[in-house]
Amino acid sequence: MYSEKVLDHFTNPRNVGELPDADGVGEVGNARCGDIMKMYLKIDGDTITDVKFKTFGCGAAIATSSIATEMIKGHSIADALNLSNRAVVEALDGLPPAKVHCSVLAEQAVKAALADYYTRRGIDPEPIVGHVKKDVHEGEEESCPSCSGCDH
Ligand code: FES
Repeated sequence: MYSEKVLDHFTNPRNVGELPDADGVGEVGNARCGDIMKMYLKIDGDTITDVKFKTFGCGAAIATSSIATEMIKGHSIADALNLSNRAVVEALDGLPPAKVHCSVLAEQAVKAALADYYTRRGIDPEPIVGHVKKDVHEGEEESCPSCSGCDH
């Protein structure tokens, strides 16, 4: 059901923890399952020099946040802004359909941390980062169309 990469990142997640001197911190959640993801970024110039995360959530949420940190660490802010949940799922060699939606947490947590980075610098983040969903199901109908059959 789960790829080896998912199992690897779930059992041995990379970059877990906090950055006390982070330049941007983002927290997003999934109100339906109660899962929460917090992402910390250290940024030097245009480069994300360090990333840590803490995820209180399902295995797919942990695996996606873990690989997302690897995909943005050492990369530019622009690369991080382009990180899509689809790219995260592909990097994990796929997720079961009912779990694809968990990967949105990782995408939105990175964006939330970048929004915080700009806000701290007195820059309105929305034109750069776009709208960040603090709850990944924000604005959706009661039943989640992306994961029908699961209990989100
Ligand atoms: Fe909550 Fe995966 S993010 S079930």
